[in-house]
Amino acid sequence: MSSGVITASYIGASALFILALAGLSHQETARRGNFYGMLGMGIALMVTIFGVVTDNHEFLIAGVVVGGYIGWVLAKRVEMTHMPELVAMLHSMVGLAAVFVGYANALDHSATMIGIEKTIHDVETYIGILIGAITLSGSIAAYLKLSAKISGRPLQLPGRHLFNLGLLIAAIWLAFLYVEQSAAGGGLTILILMTIIALMFGVHMVIAIGGADMPVVVSMLNSYSGWAAAAMGFMLGNDLLIVVGALVGSSGAILSYIMCKAMNRKFVNVILGGLGSKSTSAGPAGATGDVGDVSQIQPEEAAHLLESAKEVMIIPGYGMAVAQAQHIVYEITKKLRDKGVNVRFGIHPVAGRMPGHMNVLLAEAKVPYDIVYEMDEVNPDFPNVDVSVVIGANDIVNPAAQDVADSPIAGMPVLEPWKGKTTIVLKRGMSAGYAGVDNPLFYKENTRMLFGDAKDSVDEVLKFLSK
Ligand code: TAP
Repeated sequence: MSSGVITASYIGASALFILALAGLSHQETARRGNFYGMLGMGIALMVTIFGVVTDNHEFLIAGVVVGGYIGWVLAKRVEMTHMPELVAMLHSMVGLAAVFVGYANALDHSATMIGIEKTIHDVETYIGILIGAITLSGSIAAYLKLSAKISGRPLQLPGRHLFNLGLLIAAIWLAFLYVEQSAAGGGLTILILMTIIALMFGVHMVIAIGGADMPVVVSMLNSYSGWAAAAMGFMLGNDLLIVVGALVGSSGAILSYIMCKAMNRKFVNVILGGLGSKSTSAGPAGATGDVGDVSQIQPEEAAHLLESAKEVMIIPGYGMAVAQAQHIVYEITKKLRDKGVNVRFGIHPVAGRMPGHMNVLLAEAKVPYDIVYEMDEVNPDFPNVDVSVVIGANDIVNPAAQDVADSPIAGMPVLEPWKGKTTIVLKRGMSAGYAGVDNPLFYKENTRMLFGDAKDSVDEVLKFLSK
């Protein structure tokens, strides 16, 4: 393959990746965005394997087939509620790849670089392994947290910032040593030491973040995996990898920033592993209130309230995803709209367990986009809302974020259904949400609890609406 064809294909693939990102920013174009991304990656792989690599093609094809098959099976099997764990695991693979590429580079003595060129190459290798190892261990720690295999609470060791600073100074000092020793043909021990430090930092950074801040960890590791890929691009001298890595790295960083704004947290604080965040004051995960203290409602009465309302706001959360209630929720929406009720959906930016989780569920149920609103758009309207229906949501409608100064979610913007006339909350019991804090909304005078699995409850409500 001529170098002109390779360059043109790489430019084409880069353009497709940019189109993919643009497509993914709107529900209507997300499918097309995914397609562009797949096409870009297909071109990138084929051109790299048959145009850039000169040997061992059979191993690479075997790798593509086996890896592609595993990816296909995983994507088919994974439940929507477990996507963040899968994504965290995939990020760890990018980190691992960067570490491997870095070591392969360091051990390859066939290159004949000297002087400044060699120094630059060594620094690229060192940084690539560093970012890769942080991404690897950080993503594994995030996977364990998100899948509840270890506690989701922030674990903030005493003197953690000093510890982090110590690791940073050690990493910089080792970089100088590595460049020096590598020039003399050595430096492997230094690289191993640095890798251990980076692995420790990755774990330490992620375990210090927890509870309601976890969304930021997911998007932040997304960004790190992009920078790890870009670092690999520098090590291998592959322009496309640099471009793709930079795209993923910067879009992940922008998403992290958006998430931080949504959570009212400072970006730098989260990146540095809980700097300035409250210590382990998260309430007991799964904290339970007393069912006796709340007012309950039955499906028939709920259906009646909805039918007689003019303005209805539906607030979906993680429990709707667990119950897979979105299709019936849309059936109810259609029925109510036919009866002249104005039904809207209010979406919190961190509802569920991954960015855009609720939008994906509602799109799957074919809810029209023009009745789906963001939190900031609907919050001022709650005083005019007759009935808010909170379906499997908890933290995102917790007034403690505004009223309780030392709450672990204090300062996080929330949807405000309690300002409307009546709120119906659908959940199975009185368990707390992800952040592990009790929710005063459930005890408010104008709140009615409809207990049960969300899908069963909406099924029942729909039956009474049909009558
Ligand atoms: P949560 O606060 O986690 O609350 C979900 C509620 O759904 C629970 O209280 C649970 O109560 C109920 N539930 C679970 N299964 C149910 C079912 N089958 N039927 C009915 N109810 C069910 O969810 P949220 O309000 O969506 O808030 C999201 C939280 O996750 C935030 O704290 C956010 O920071 C965090 N988080 C978000 C992300 C992203 S990127 N979105 C990533 C990681 C973490 P019962 O058990 O009593 O039913």
